[in-house]
Amino acid sequence: MHGLAVTTVEGIGSTKTRLHPVQERIAKSHGSQCGFCTPGIVMSMYTLIRNSPKPTMKQMETAFQGNLCRCTGYRAIIEGYRTFTEEWEQIQNEKRLNSGVCGMGDKCCKLQNATKSVNGSVGTNGVDGDGTSSNSETNGTNNFHYTADETLFNPSEFTPYHPSQEPIFPPELKLTDKYDKQYLIFKGTDVTWYRPTSLKKLLKLKSMHPDAKIVVGNTEVGVEIKFKHLTYPVIIQPVQVPELVRITKTQTGVKIGAAATLNDVEIFLRDQIKNQPDHKTRIFVAMVEMINWFAGKQIRSVGALGSNIMTGSPISDMIPILMAAKSELEVQNKDSGVRKVVLDNKFFVGYRKSIIKPDEILLSIHVPFSHEDQYFQAYKQARRREDDIAIVNAAVNVTFKPKSNIISNISFGFGGMSFKTVTAPKTEDKLRGMPWNKETLEVAYSYLLEDLPLDPGAPGGMIQYRRSLTLSLFFKAFLTISQKLEKCVPSIKLDQREVSGIRGFQGQELKSSQYFTVVPNTQEKTNVLQRPIVHMSAYKQASGEAVYCDDIPYQEGELYCSFILSAKPHANILKIDDSKALAMEGVYGFVSAKDISEKKNWWGTVVHDERVFYSDKVTAPGQIIGLIVAENQDIAQRAARKVRVEYQDLEPVVISIEEAIKHKSYFADPHRIIRKGDIDKVLTEASHVVQGECRMGGQEHFYLETQTCIVIPKPEDDEMEIFSSTQNPTEVSKLIAEVLGVQQNKIVTKVKRIGGGFGGKESKAAMIAVAMAVAAKKFNRPLRCMLDRDEDIIMTGARHPFLMKYKAAFDEIGKILGCDVELYSNCGYALDLSLSVLERAMTLFENSYRIPVVRVTGYPCKTNITSNTAFRGFGGPQGMFLVECMAQHIADYLNRDPVEISELNLYKEGDITHYNQKLTNCTLDKCWTECINSSDYYNRRKEVEKFNRENRYKKRGLSVIPTKYGIAFTAPFLNQGGALILVYTDGSVLLSHGGIEMGQGLHTKMIQVASRVLEIPVEKIHTSEISTDKVPNTSPTAASSGSDLNGMAVLEACKVIKERLKPYKEANPNDTWEQLVKKAYFDRISLSATGFYRTPDIGYNWETGEGNVYNYYTVGVACTEVEIDTLTGDHQVLRTDIVMDLGESLNPAIDIGQIEGAFMQGYGLFVLEEMVYSPKGETFTRGPGTYKIPGFADIPAEFNVSLLKGSSNPRAVYSSKVS
Ligand SMILES: Cc1cc2nc3c(=O)[nH]c(=O)nc-3n(C[C@H](O)[C@H](O)[C@H](O)COP(=O)(O)OP(=O)(O)OC[C@H]3O[C@@H](n4cnc5c(N)ncnc54)[C@H](O)[C@@H]3O)c2cc1C
Ligand code: FES
Repeated sequence: MHGLAVTTVEGIGSTKTRLHPVQERIAKSHGSQCGFCTPGIVMSMYTLIRNSPKPTMKQMETAFQGNLCRCTGYRAIIEGYRTFTEEWEQIQNEKRLNSGVCGMGDKCCKLQNATKSVNGSVGTNGVDGDGTSSNSETNGTNNFHYTADETLFNPSEFTPYHPSQEPIFPPELKLTDKYDKQYLIFKGTDVTWYRPTSLKKLLKLKSMHPDAKIVVGNTEVGVEIKFKHLTYPVIIQPVQVPELVRITKTQTGVKIGAAATLNDVEIFLRDQIKNQPDHKTRIFVAMVEMINWFAGKQIRSVGALGSNIMTGSPISDMIPILMAAKSELEVQNKDSGVRKVVLDNKFFVGYRKSIIKPDEILLSIHVPFSHEDQYFQAYKQARRREDDIAIVNAAVNVTFKPKSNIISNISFGFGGMSFKTVTAPKTEDKLRGMPWNKETLEVAYSYLLEDLPLDPGAPGGMIQYRRSLTLSLFFKAFLTISQKLEKCVPSIKLDQREVSGIRGFQGQELKSSQYFTVVPNTQEKTNVLQRPIVHMSAYKQASGEAVYCDDIPYQEGELYCSFILSAKPHANILKIDDSKALAMEGVYGFVSAKDISEKKNWWGTVVHDERVFYSDKVTAPGQIIGLIVAENQDIAQRAARKVRVEYQDLEPVVISIEEAIKHKSYFADPHRIIRKGDIDKVLTEASHVVQGECRMGGQEHFYLETQTCIVIPKPEDDEMEIFSSTQNPTEVSKLIAEVLGVQQNKIVTKVKRIGGGFGGKESKAAMIAVAMAVAAKKFNRPLRCMLDRDEDIIMTGARHPFLMKYKAAFDEIGKILGCDVELYSNCGYALDLSLSVLERAMTLFENSYRIPVVRVTGYPCKTNITSNTAFRGFGGPQGMFLVECMAQHIADYLNRDPVEISELNLYKEGDITHYNQKLTNCTLDKCWTECINSSDYYNRRKEVEKFNRENRYKKRGLSVIPTKYGIAFTAPFLNQGGALILVYTDGSVLLSHGGIEMGQGLHTKMIQVASRVLEIPVEKIHTSEISTDKVPNTSPTAASSGSDLNGMAVLEACKVIKERLKPYKEANPNDTWEQLVKKAYFDRISLSATGFYRTPDIGYNWETGEGNVYNYYTVGVACTEVEIDTLTGDHQVLRTDIVMDLGESLNPAIDIGQIEGAFMQGYGLFVLEEMVYSPKGETFTRGPGTYKIPGFADIPAEFNVSLLKGSSNPRAVYSSKVS
């Protein structure tokens, strides 16, 4: 940081002074949900507009390549920020010209009269009404009629952006390079860090310390230190050595200093591409294209090309290109001067080992110009297109005899096919002299397979796929180069259908629309119910002021905890040796099962089947064996790594569902069976039966805020205050009280907000809090811990993987007559919420289809992996996937469009589910029709068929899927909610309830409800935090019931207050709220009230099949079109249309945000995300490097969301439905 100025999100604006437009716009466009990613996204955008005040959409796309958000689905962020771009300004100008809109901009009355659409274009199917309001209120529900004249946000309300108002860069740093010229040495206890300023000094240092690590961007070394725990006592930073950062043009190409960043390389090469003849820069074009897919902008701004080579990763993106281009490297040591080496097949001599000697440094890379008869192509295939490592990458460099298709020379570079980047020498030899045609292609394939054998057990797996990718990528190069050759070699003619193999997928400009019912003009301005108001914390989230658990200030005497986790799937613990850890300075102690009685060493969310600390035996990796308490995080984590645990392996080790079936390893065998009718008879008598199986893998929650906890022991009465990032504060308090043997009223758990939960913090937060509470009691000191990402993944479990088997009977048109279904769920080592997850899968498996005869059996498999837990959908997605596979199977069998099968079997009003619940207010058919119409399904299906006929290697598919999701906890007692309202004499209101704000906008919706009942502006109502000493015995914020249960409780509490103020209102109809409150106070009327709600008519008897499992159903239908590259498996989602029935949405902006976010999370589940376990049950996918959640570029190019119009719901607060 020496000589640099650092600007953080707090430095650009604040709610206390003035928000910066990038902060304001993400908030106003509803692009911040839990807000944990928001500061990062704000700063990416801020950096972009500081560098280019009017960026293009393309620049914006690039700026966000390194940012991830788990909540929003990205659309809202892009919509808000596109208002900074050149394209946006052009559209506005055109709009003004075309419409004759006046200087009022978007406030112009001409635009006001049009139906709405957020992205500035005028919508066509907005939701209209007659504009009258009947405002009748019964049991908390309203019947409104609406007109459409609003948008989710209004860009004309944005503060204009003026680059001139930006804080100036410190002139001291701008005008002088004195800091850059300083030779710096920093000496720490373990590391000495040098920053030489000349090549001579650098070489001298390297000769004195041959083992010194040269660090440029630290993007590789940083990972080695953090995750592989490597230590480097001497570090040299070469970025002030001119020779190492210089990029120059030479007679024969470009010479790039080894420490030049990829960003600088890109800029220089782009300039060459612009200014040199096309044929000279073909290698540079390939490099620039590859750099676009290389990590994200942040990494490319600091990471160097030379470091990429020296890292020697077998999946490096740049080495295959440089190898195929036969680039020349200059290396140097202090004594022998410069040595030139070619980056060829002999350069790497082992895994990440090259021929460069320890005392040498890499000085520069020379990349040659290409020439007229030379062609160069490079490709990368990754799981996620942006910011992901390659599965396989390839570069092809071919030179032809002049004006012919005869290969005079060819060279390859392949990554991902060995322990190092490789060429294909046999293929190269064979192809020289051959013509560039299909026959040669066949020859090339067989030689490539020989050159690139891949051991069946090669690390990274996907052996067949990787082998086929090498051929596919070469084939792509073949097609592309053939197309270029067509111009000079007339004999070459490409079939037009084959051209589709050439085109890669590029980012497309987002189109979107959001339709919702808007409130009538007659609705009071202060009544914000059903309006798309901004999330109450969004501005604070955008400015970095929002406080998450780990932002809570340091407590006096606070210590840090680090966990020691089991490394084995099934083993006896022979010995735990903490001596080395305890010997470290700053370590206070080791806490383990010895610190707690055997009887108290248990916890669990439904049954107590988990140990607080495991001591004799472990049954999965990631179980807590103990924890180190130390002065700070660094010491605690280093000490934890020094605790040695000796194990004795045990058998069996059961990892997969198949192994569980083999060993009959179940929590219950089977857990439940739901039967309706005689399925054996139906299967025997039906004219058609299909049978099959399908499986779904796990899914990591990947909430951006990992599990965090602060435990503060109080001086008196064994009290403890807990701050936890939990979805379930009551359970945290309850379990701590049980384990410590104190009353629950002494343990107060508080939650302000959490940075995403998705179910992962429902039960698992307690695991950390309970262990820490034991430690806090032992040391009587406040303790803090925020799990690292890898710890979080290993310890806290994921979505349950399922194996599902079915037999389905149906008639000749595809009407389903019955099905027999078996669901096997991989629960992991403990029960946790697994039975409820399985029950939900069993009850929701039929999704939206009426199946008259059913047998569904659930098997909860007990395995030696981390205990899996709740995850958005809670078993629903797994079950629904089964029935969709079944429907697809039936459609294939009958040779019919799956859409026809779905339509035929779709539930109707009054139908009865297989667990005997009657469907009332069922709007599935309405959603279906609206989705089919708005997506223009039938016309687009014809277009898809045409596209597929015309394109050989790209294929499109279009699918329509309904969903029906049951709302309520399946455990009836949890269907209760509580609220506490405190009214102060200045008229301000403090609202508490039992629900956790995790980005879903719960507090905002609750304040909207309270504001509506009390008829006061939302500004007067505040929710500070959720705390077990305000509302007791709360249910977890889960099962999509947060706003239903708490909303009704809030409504009840507010009604009590309103009733008490009624006489004052009647006597003083013109009094303000504040005056009424004051009068009541002086009359000694209580201004606080509680509210309570229990969902009526709920509770299912699994034995008799009677009663209701769910309170109601949220339904919707989605239509998605996807294009697939059949050569590589790469794909792009072209368009998605979603229609959902959310009744009378409490807040359409929040609900649409939830729908979009959930869609992207579902996309991740089905397409991108993959939990990989070793045969020993360790989770391999432990962080963003290996586990890929969807990024900005993955959202549908067109993303349309509609909330079903004219719908209501008598069974929830103000006629809403949860999303
Ligand atoms: C989030 C993320 C995404 C990534 N994505 C990609 C990707 O898409 N494709 C890809 O190929 N890589 C990727 N990487 C890997 C890494 O970013 C690149 O290898 C990058 O080029 C490393 O540059 P650096 O300057 O940060 O390396 P550093 O960490 O600073 O150094 C890396 C190594 O190079 C050595 N070194 C550096 N300069 C010299 C020199 N002059 N002489 C001798 N040795 C030297 C260092 O000693 C060290 O061993 C990614 C990394 C991260 C963290
Ligand atoms: S708002 Fe982006 S991670 Fe939650």
